[in-house]
Amino acid sequence: MSGQGTPIPMTSHPCGPLNGTAEVPGDKSISHRSLILGAMAVGETRISGLLEGEDVLDTAKAMRAFGAEVTDLGGGEWTVHGVGVGGFAEPDQVIDCGNSGTGVRLIMGAMATSPITATFTGDASLNKRPMARVTDPLALFGAQSVGRSAGRLPMTIVGANDPIPVRYEVPVPSAQVKSAVLLAGLNAPGKTVVIEKEATRDHSERMLAGFGAEITVEDTDQGHVITLTGQPELKPQIIAVPRDPSSAAFPVCAALITPGSDVLVPGIGLNPTRAGLFTTLREMGADLTYENEREEGGEPVADLRARYSPEMKGIKVPPERAASMIDEYPVLSVVAANAVGTTLMGGVRELRVKESDRIDAMARGLRANGVAVEEGEDWWSVEGLGIGGVPGGGVCESFLDHRIAMSFMVLGMGAKVEVSVDDGGPIATSFPIFEPLMAGLGARVERT
Ligand code: S3P
Repeated sequence: MSGQGTPIPMTSHPCGPLNGTAEVPGDKSISHRSLILGAMAVGETRISGLLEGEDVLDTAKAMRAFGAEVTDLGGGEWTVHGVGVGGFAEPDQVIDCGNSGTGVRLIMGAMATSPITATFTGDASLNKRPMARVTDPLALFGAQSVGRSAGRLPMTIVGANDPIPVRYEVPVPSAQVKSAVLLAGLNAPGKTVVIEKEATRDHSERMLAGFGAEITVEDTDQGHVITLTGQPELKPQIIAVPRDPSSAAFPVCAALITPGSDVLVPGIGLNPTRAGLFTTLREMGADLTYENEREEGGEPVADLRARYSPEMKGIKVPPERAASMIDEYPVLSVVAANAVGTTLMGGVRELRVKESDRIDAMARGLRANGVAVEEGEDWWSVEGLGIGGVPGGGVCESFLDHRIAMSFMVLGMGAKVEVSVDDGGPIATSFPIFEPLMAGLGARVERT
């Protein structure tokens, strides 16, 4: 849906202190999976705390198109009446996944082993992103696909009539690819095996087990070996979606760089496959603490407390940490610009195929605001100017990418003068309450 509306230019003015409690929305990854797995279970799944951003709403619409009954009860409470594994109906319209790579890739996997055909499309950003990484393994199950050149959407998937289970080594560190293969494996008889060299977010594995699938994960010399037994009957669940660490990153990083700030961000999911940013910030010298650590719905959760941290230093972020913070590099680069010394981020090739080429998008915008950036194909570095040292004054392109738009808004909060983006509209895909939430803390973000 984003990318098709009128651009919403936004400006963020220097501010501080930021104070108070930031209740960020539900986790995007878990929200997509709750709807999709709910649609593949038999009976009623109840979800609370669902992220009601455009990306997830597009997945809800898609699940209805495949025959599930999806009901919005209000206030983040939803129910899904599933049709069972292999029970998807053939949609009679094109499935529009808007801006969401997670939505389209997971749904393609979920339908690819049923004897139905579906056509997928998205906005201008999604229609540029690579889909062969998903359709290649789906072909091994017997599904066929026809899309635009270089495996781009719009694309039609003809699901396999007689799916066969597969053994697949994921060639790129991608939880979306891993999850698409596992969801396809649900309706293939026998055991589907997915091998990943680097651990990526494991919500699909945890949730599949929660829904009653037989799934095992082994650490071997080859990497993580995930084995799923096909054709289970998935049992409906009661799911409380934890708050999104990737959204928490914005108020946390804003508090670290604005003088006098002290912000509490409660109930954040701290699954180790997602929490790399917070480890990195602490290594840089951030005053960031975990309070009230607990477990909720099978996921580790804590309240994050972030205070103004004028002494942060640039560091070398370990490349092996990349998968656990892949969505957080844009906002990390903003903190890096406010630290002393250079921050080097390696092993991040995947950043080039997100909602935008995130290295390119951040490098352009940071430079436009007086920050020096160097980049290679799979690395980039940011020259820190120390706290309050970022000149600002630039107008940045957001390239239809929510996290780029929000990162530049955070940059403006700690800069000498304001920072603007050409289009903040995409923020609604993942963090629809970003503006009122940041305003409530004391930020001065306005539509211009
Ligand atoms: C996601 C996986 C990641 C991440 C995306 C959400 C998921 O993408 O960037 O925002 O929910 O599985 P990749 O699998 O492409 O790394």
